[in-house]
Amino acid sequence: MYKTGIYQRDCLTMTALRGFFGRRKFVAVTLYPEIASGNDPDRDRLLEHILCRFATANGTYKRTQSHRFDEFDAQVIQILRGRLDPGSRCAIHDMAVSDGRTAVEFFQGLASIDCVELAFLATDAFADLMVVSSPPKALAVVIDPESGAPVQIIRPPFVFNVERHESILLYPVNRLVLDTILRTSVRVLLKRFAVRDPELKTAHVRLLSPECLQLLKADSRFHFERYSILEPAAERFNLVRAMNVLNRSYFSEADLHLAAKNVHESLLPGGLFVTGSNEDAGSPVDGAVYERTQTGFRTLWVSGTGSQMDDILLRQRSA
Ligand SMILES: C[S@@+](CC[C@H](N)C(=O)[O-])C[C@H]1O[C@@H](n2cnc3c(N)ncnc32)[C@H](O)[C@@H]1O
Repeated sequence: MYKTGIYQRDCLTMTALRGFFGRRKFVAVTLYPEIASGNDPDRDRLLEHILCRFATANGTYKRTQSHRFDEFDAQVIQILRGRLDPGSRCAIHDMAVSDGRTAVEFFQGLASIDCVELAFLATDAFADLMVVSSPPKALAVVIDPESGAPVQIIRPPFVFNVERHESILLYPVNRLVLDTILRTSVRVLLKRFAVRDPELKTAHVRLLSPECLQLLKADSRFHFERYSILEPAAERFNLVRAMNVLNRSYFSEADLHLAAKNVHESLLPGGLFVTGSNEDAGSPVDGAVYERTQTGFRTLWVSGTGSQMDDILLRQRSA
């Protein structure tokens, strides 16, 4: 058995994606900018679909959806509102935002709190990609520019995710082709890229939603930067949020401890940490709001079954 991918704009339609097999296909992430800048009535759904099964260099998915946590956001905003002094500055850090659509919604909810000076930083470690190809060959390799690692390979009629590839049992042909081209044509292309071969074609792909790009232009309170939750933050915030990222299926226990330490250090005294995970838009969020104490965290509010990091956060003891 083998499975082809979607790599041409014409083939990426809601009709093509309906049904089990359409939904399961990998979509070339190189289609994101073209769809984002167009005016297809299904634009948002198509962009969500491109990100849904696209995996980054560390194996995390870029999956996100508009209105993914509207009710949860409303509760968080209510908790925060009650703690802010009129006229005070309110600095927010929304981490691992994927293409930023849920950050825009959170920003808009927070902007409705009047009398505070809002400063909102949205970040993600993997928003920028580089695409390398060697025309007229059809092969294109999508690279994480930080590590230089290939993350997606487009070799018509296939689209391969390098980190989260297809099961060898279900799709043995896909695995055979992927393993072969990784050792041959992809390796050659990456070597040529490393020595800056001028014959290669390169393109930059930024995975930020149209709404996020629009807000970045229009509102000076909203910013986007590259940041990894495993690095210390450069600023301090009143509220830090990490949704659908600090999961045990993504990070080791040691990395989750490191992330908890970084969040603690980046919060102002009494600041809030909001974290949780859910499935599709509107599904229940298992998460919580924690308050930063001098040495660790204290639970303020729990949603659903709570955060996957609960034990780590409650055991966190800063120096
Ligand atoms: C499943 S998406 C969640 C997106 C959004 N927060 C949501 O809930 O819809 C996970 C995101 O985490 C990002 N990510 C993975 N590892 C990261 C890291 N070490 N630091 C920052 N972001 C990371 C990925 O790039 C991806 O955009």
